Amino acid sequence: MSTQQNILLVGGTGRTGRRVLQQLLARGISVRAVVRSRGKLPPEVAGNPNLTVIEASLLSLRDEDLKQHLRGCDAVISCLGHVISLKGIFGAPQDLVTRATMRLCRAVEGLDPPAPVKFILMSSVSVHRPGGLDARRGSLERAFLWGLRGVLPPAMDNQRAADFLLEKIGSANALVQWAVVRPDTLLESEVSEYTMHEGLVNGLFAPGSTNMANVAHFMCELATNPKSWADWNGKLPVVVNASSKST
Ligand SMILES: NC(=O)c1ccc[n+]([C@@H]2O[C@H](COP(=O)([O-])OP(=O)(O)OC[C@H]3O[C@@H](n4cnc5c(N)ncnc54)[C@H](OP(=O)(O)O)[C@@H]3O)[C@@H](O)[C@H]2O)c1
Repeated sequence: MSTQQNILLVGGTGRTGRRVLQQLLARGISVRAVVRSRGKLPPEVAGNPNLTVIEASLLSLRDEDLKQHLRGCDAVISCLGHVISLKGIFGAPQDLVTRATMRLCRAVEGLDPPAPVKFILMSSVSVHRPGGLDARRGSLERAFLWGLRGVLPPAMDNQRAADFLLEKIGSANALVQWAVVRPDTLLESEVSEYTMHEGLVNGLFAPGSTNMANVAHFMCELATNPKSWADWNGKLPVVVNASSKST
């Protein structure tokens, strides 16, 4: 029986997603990357025998095609995000991350896989963990974020995607398990020491920092290391650089 791990990656042309792709391939994992344009993939991955590129707009794929791409995958990693431009932030689809999350999870459920598939979502520290568990956030910050979600569609989108996993997929789903990774302010830099936390470590107005390469490393660990998955399954870990001072 083959023990080769298969991972479906979306957002693999993005700043963090391309690092996830490179790190997965470096670990010898077989990756299926759904991208809008193959030309935006990092040139180093071209011709890698472990990479299958599906050139398509994720939200436009037919359900049957999406299921076909997901068949046999152990994990799905989403690094989708709204492009930082006026059109990317305010244009359609304003619910990109939520719709992609819902479609991917429902397609996995439709496949009725023999073991639960891991769904790993890149998110943000602006996303709220329910039940008062983000006790670090005071009423002023909560009010500010509430307003932000009203005016900035990506902030609302990230929250709704996390809420879908928490409330609709839940913690006892036999087909899909999930983790929502919450980095602080993203930095371009190599893999370094980083730490993971159940709740927030920095205030919104005195943010910490997280290297994109560290986010990528943590997402790869979640997908491939059973101990890491056991620790963070069904949670919203905050990941920050070890050098980032907590406030
Ligand atoms: N910026 C920060 O400091 C920060 C901090 C914490 C968390 N985050 C969150 O982290 C996530 C990823 O951030 P990032 O900066 O690595 O992302 P990014 O570089 O902006 O990449 C976004 C990815 O999403 C894809 N995408 C965008 N619109 C799409 C659409 N309509 N259909 C299909 N694919 C689409 C892009 O594809 P194309 O290449 O084809 O455009 C790209 O692969 C986001 O959700 C963001 O909110 C950001």
